[in-house]
Parts: sequence; structure tokens; C-alpha cells
Amino acid sequence: MTTPSDWTSRKVRETFLSYFEEKGHRRVASSSLVPAEDPTLLFTNAGMNQFKDVFLGRETRPYVRAASAQKCVRAGGKHNDLDNVGYTARHHTFFEMLGNFSFGDYFKEEAIAFAWELVTDRYGFDPKRLWATVYTDDDEAAKLWERYLPAARVLRFGEKDNFWSMGDTGPCGPCSELHVDQGPHVPGDATPNGRGDRVMEIWNLVFMQYERDAEGKMTPLPKPSVDTGAGLERITALLTGKNNNFDTDLFTPLIHKIEAISGKTYRGGMAEEDAPFRVIADHLRAATMLMADGVMPANTGRGYVLRRILRRAARYGRRLGIEGPELCGLVEPVFSVFEGVYFGDPHRTLKNEVWELVRSEERSFAKTMSAGADRVGEAITEARRKEETSLTGKTVFRFYDTYGIPLELIEELAQDEGMAVDRAGFEKELEEARERSKGASKF
Ligand code: SER
Repeated sequence: MTTPSDWTSRKVRETFLSYFEEKGHRRVASSSLVPAEDPTLLFTNAGMNQFKDVFLGRETRPYVRAASAQKCVRAGGKHNDLDNVGYTARHHTFFEMLGNFSFGDYFKEEAIAFAWELVTDRYGFDPKRLWATVYTDDDEAAKLWERYLPAARVLRFGEKDNFWSMGDTGPCGPCSELHVDQGPHVPGDATPNGRGDRVMEIWNLVFMQYERDAEGKMTPLPKPSVDTGAGLERITALLTGKNNNFDTDLFTPLIHKIEAISGKTYRGGMAEEDAPFRVIADHLRAATMLMADGVMPANTGRGYVLRRILRRAARYGRRLGIEGPELCGLVEPVFSVFEGVYFGDPHRTLKNEVWELVRSEERSFAKTMSAGADRVGEAITEARRKEETSLTGKTVFRFYDTYGIPLELIEELAQDEGMAVDRAGFEKELEEARERSKGASKF
């Protein structure tokens, strides 16, 4: 077994892909973050997306086993992690999913055997630290895990944890997860799906069996299949002895850059004060990768989510005293981390284009911010004069709608001045405006 210091994210990725090649799988390149011709999907959110039609029996490939490292974004849409980012050790908007797939070839028995061998033999995880979970009534999967694990470490969970679907419609099925216990030094429950990060899910094995339609009806797939997804960031953290993904080689070049730009020091671990470092690193990574795949900042659809990600990063940047267009400095380290993995050569032009886009978005946001801060400041003074304790929904909506000041920014500015925001009133205004513009908007 290799020691913690031997592992790098590159080695974790390569070990996964070559293991499955050895087992007869075709190594397939990641697809773009912009899903090809799939209106049900905002961004590519799992390794199986590019194989959706193969699972559904609408497309055939010259292979029945595949493995990939897939670029994914979960921000907006069914699987949305945006608001957790920065406050946990393991949530990201952009992340990489390592997966193996069987298109009507092997099913539960081999999927579980492969996962076990790779995790214990190639990655060298101590079997005593592993747990498996299965869907409530999946006796077959439970029995198969019990070949490797004591029955007490195979648990059953319901739909929320152990049934996976890509979206409201499409392929789905019961799933089974592998979890690693990091030990009592990490806060949290000592069993899977509990509180905290102590026991961490690393791999989800989906036994694809059904297609769900818009009415929720489930029809069996032509052939039972397998779709698995393992988190590269988490496995790298565990194998390098870190209990936080942000302390791995996937993020440290970005964190160092933020330190250089802000002149502030990152403490490491999970210090609450470090949340801005984590948010900025995560978000600039996501924004860079989205732009590299052709997404442009916009006021609707994908471009709007990208804009929100960048603006959230800029707001956290201000907490570190970064006000100018400097977050674009992170584009370079993001490209270096993924050099040779997702970018072909030469990518200098692409990198420069992304850098320009981030910089111009930062500039326009800085303008909105300073104009917005002045306007909101005046409204707060006015409310105080009237002895009010919150900004009305109407006022907030006007800032949002007429001046493009993000709601989160208004809330933050108000909070700094000890003033509340009438969120319910704002939502009502927003709803009314939506009604008014129905049919007028292409979004
Ligand atoms: N599709 C499953 C997931 O995203 C496994 O890859 O978790």
C-alpha cells in the first residue's frame, strides 16, 4: 500500500481509470459541462449524463463497459449544492466524478466486487473503516456487501439516500453507497448519513433499472445496468490524510493565490473565518471550467447561474478586502491544476479569453456593488428615520429589479446595519412581476 504522501489527485484519477481498463472498460473522455441536446438538464451533473440514451436503450455503443472522469457542476436544477459551499469540507459547485458503467453487461455482483477491490486493494483503505448502505428492500445488494463487510456495517436507507435519479424524468434506480469512517478526531456521527463529516460517502453505485416519466411512472429499462460515481476530491482528501477537500492539491494553488491577492492568511482545516477562501476557490474553479466549455455570463439560463456564482465569489472577496477585478487571477491556477486532464494543447488563447471574461464581469459587478451600496445605505437611513426595523419588500424589489442589486447583497448590507429585510414581501413582489411578464420572456 502507498503512504498518504504518495497520493495526488492525478494519481487517484489515473488509478481509477486504469483499474477499470484492466477490467475490460473503455476509457471515455469527460463530456462538456453543457449537456448536449438535453433540455431536462442545466449542467452536466453526473458521469452517466453522456450515457443517458444508452441506458434507455435508444443508443448503442461499440462497448458495454465504460469508465470516465467527468466534469460536473451542481448549481441550480435538481442537484444543487451552491448554498452549502464554503461551510462544509466536501461540497462543491464544480467537482469531478469518477465512474464505471455497465450497459446491460454486469450488474450488482460485479459492481460491488470492483468497488471493493479498488477501494481496499488499490487505494488501500482499511476495510475496518468502511460502511455500505443499500436501498430499503435491496436484500441482494446487502448480501453481496456481507461477503466483504460484517452485517452490522451494511445499513438500509430509504428513497432520499439510496435511490438515485438524474432528474424528474429519465433513468433511475436503487443505489448503494460506500462510506469511510475518518475516525473520532473528525466531528460527527460514527455512522453513515449522520451529522458532520466524520463518516463520509465516497462512492455511489446506482443499479439502473427504470425510466421515470413526467407522471412519475417507472418502466423497467431494456437491460439492468450500472452507473457509479465516486468523488475525486473526497478520495484525494482521505488518501492524503486531509479531512477537508480544500486542503488537497486540487485547491491549494487556488488558496495560495487568494492569499497573495488579499494579503490574508488561510488557516486550513475548517475555520469558520476561512469560508471566503473556500467559496472563492470553489466558485472561480467552477466559473473557469464553465467558461472554458463555452458558457457566457447572462441574465437567463446557464449564463445566469454562472453570473450568480461569480457574483457570490465577488461578495465573499469583499470580506477579504478584495474589491478590484482580481479574482481573475485564479483562472491561471485552475488551468494549471487541470493541465493535460481536461484541456488540450495549446490552451493559451482559451485561458486568456476566460481571464478577460472574468475580469469584465468583476468590473461590472464592482460598479453595481458601489452604486447599490450607496442606494441601499440611503434607504436604511430613511427607514431608521421612520423608526422602522426592516426594509420593505417593495423597496428591496425596486433595488433588485431596477438596479440589478442582488438580494443577498441587500440582505448583507442591511444586516451590517442591524436592519432586517422583508423577504416574504420581496417574494410577493417578485411573483407579481413574474405574472406580469409571463409570455413576454423567452426564459
Ligand atoms: N449517478 C450517480 C450519482 O450521481 C452515480 O454516478 O451519484
